[in-house]
Parts: sequence; structure tokens; C-alpha cells
Amino acid sequence: MKITKSHTAQYTAPSNIALVKYWGKQAHQIPENASISFTLKKCLTNTRIVVTPKLNEKQFIQVFFEGKMNEKFVPKIQKMFHEIHSILPWILSIDVEIHTENTFPHSSGIASSASSMCALAACLVDIHGQVYGIEQEQLNHILISEIARLGSGSAARSVYPRIALWGHVNSIKHSSNKYAIDINEILHEHFADYCDAILIVSNKEKSVSSTAGHSLMKNNSYATARYAQANKNCEKLISILQSGDEQAFVTLVEREALTLHALMMASEPSFMLFESETIQIIKSIQAFRRETNLSLCFTLDAGPNVHILYSKRIKKEVEYFIETQLKPFCYEGRVLYDELGLGIEKIKI
Ligand code: PMV
Repeated sequence: MKITKSHTAQYTAPSNIALVKYWGKQAHQIPENASISFTLKKCLTNTRIVVTPKLNEKQFIQVFFEGKMNEKFVPKIQKMFHEIHSILPWILSIDVEIHTENTFPHSSGIASSASSMCALAACLVDIHGQVYGIEQEQLNHILISEIARLGSGSAARSVYPRIALWGHVNSIKHSSNKYAIDINEILHEHFADYCDAILIVSNKEKSVSSTAGHSLMKNNSYATARYAQANKNCEKLISILQSGDEQAFVTLVEREALTLHALMMASEPSFMLFESETIQIIKSIQAFRRETNLSLCFTLDAGPNVHILYSKRIKKEVEYFIETQLKPFCYEGRVLYDELGLGIEKIKI
């Protein structure tokens, strides 16, 4: 299948923060365990792509990041195109120009692969609809999620509003390792207005790529137990999200974050992504919670920055605490205040 004319599409896609973490994968980005994440609102990637019939044997992929040509992303996109060829048969017969930018600061230490791969997947599925004359409404989010997964695993979850589940769990009928699904129907109102303050401890690039991190799980002595625990934690979190039990949420989410980092420390070679400020922030949050009884909790990505999750109901108290007590631990005092958002959005061109 070849395309015969030029097509274009533009989407924004959000970043997401995992509550139960995906860490460890099989071939073709099939996760070793299920994961659940909150979708963010303000940390977005905006991507426009233009595809044209391929001129030469070699495929021409040009990426412009924040207006400047950037070759760094090309190998990952090439790999993704080969992976998705069986789903989008025209993908290797095109030349493509990709214009992409993030709403969050370039060197904020926030991983952009989830939002960028999800935005790219949404554009490609839109173009697939154009090529086959399929109405956009009929192109489903599951297809976008599956394609996003083949770009970067966690990107599969960025498609949906507020909350997504990726990976098979017994209690959720249509859950799958191939794509994420929308689980908004289980979300208790206590969690529907959650905020995420991202405390930037370091703006440096990650010292270990997530690809390298995932592959270290292969020889990690705790791997089998971890995958079983993560699946169990997904089941537990689903019932917590249904019941609205914020205390149980705090306990589970913090343990997940610390387990992710413990796995990294137990890998061979071992690596530690905490900075001393990360630990100071975690301890301050725990002390503040003991003093106030407020249900705020921290979570972490594969890096030193700290995400603080809390309901809008306690926004004033938590943000005063962050501004007065935690900002000094942040790189240049940087904190990004985000909240649950609405998933991918098509931009009319
Ligand atoms: O999507 P990847 O391959 O960059 O992996 C992301 C892994 C974590 O962010 C650490 C956890 C997660 O589930 O998002």
C-alpha cells in the first residue's frame, strides 16, 4: 500500500504520571506488568506532520523540535515506523516532516517521550483515516494507543482523559497488554480533580535511558516477584479509585514509586537516580502529612524529580507548603503546577 498525495495532521498529547509503574518489558514493548496513570493537562507535546510519497529508496524523516532541525529523535521514529508497518501498511512508503514542541520547559527534566510519541501516533492514525477515507470519529483511541505503545511504552496511556490502564488485569474485561484503555468509569469523585505539582530537582538528562532501565529488569533477582506485585497493585488501586479511599491511595502510590527506585538500585549494574534534594522533599512531605493529616503523596518517574499528588480540596494548604518549604530544594526554585487533563486533542489546521 502506497500513498499518492501529501497529507497533514496535527495533535496535542499530554504527558502522564504512573501510579503503578511499568518497569520491565518483552519484545515489541509488551509490558511485563500492568500499569495505571494519571493524564496531565499542561505538560503537552504539540506535533504537526506532513507526509508525502517517498521520493527515493531511502525513507526521509526530518524532525523539527521547537523550530530547529533535530536529528536526535530520528532513530527512535525509524524504529517505530518499522514496528507499526503491519498496522499502517503505507508507513514505509512516505517521506515525513515532523514539527514538534513541548509546552513544558525544554530542560525541565520531564520525560517527553510519552507525550511526543502519543501525539505522533495520533497524527499517524489521522492520516491513516485520510488515506483509507475513514471518518475520523470511527478511528478509535485504541489504535492510537497501540501505535503510541510501539513508539514508547508509557505513551500508550497518554491518549485518554484523567486515568488510563495499560496491561491485562483480571478485573477489567477489555484490558490488554497491547494498548491502554480508558477507566474513567471507576474514578471516584475524590480523585477526579487531582492536581500534580512537579518539583524539578534537576534539569539534567536522565543518566540511564528507560530502554536501558527496562532491559536491566531481565536479570534482576526481584523481577518475577515485582511483576506479580505490580499486577496485584493495579487490582488494589482499581478498588481504591472506586471507593475514594485517599489514605489507601497515598500508601500504595508512594510504595510503588519507592519500589521502582529500589529495583534500579538492585539492578546489575546498579543505579541510583535520587539526588539528596529528592530525599529531603520526600521526608518533608511525610512529616507534613503526619502534622496535618492531609492526603497528599509523592510519586517519582525514573529520575530525581518529585510529583506531588493532591485533591483540589486541599490545594491551598499543599501549595503554600510547597512554596514555603519545598521550593528551596528545587532547581532554580522550579515547580510546575499541573492537574488531571483530557488526553489527546486534534488541532484544526
Ligand atoms: O515509556 P518508557 O519506556 O519511557 O518507560 C517509562 C517508565 C516509567 O516512567 C518509569 C514508569 C511508567 O510507567 O511510566
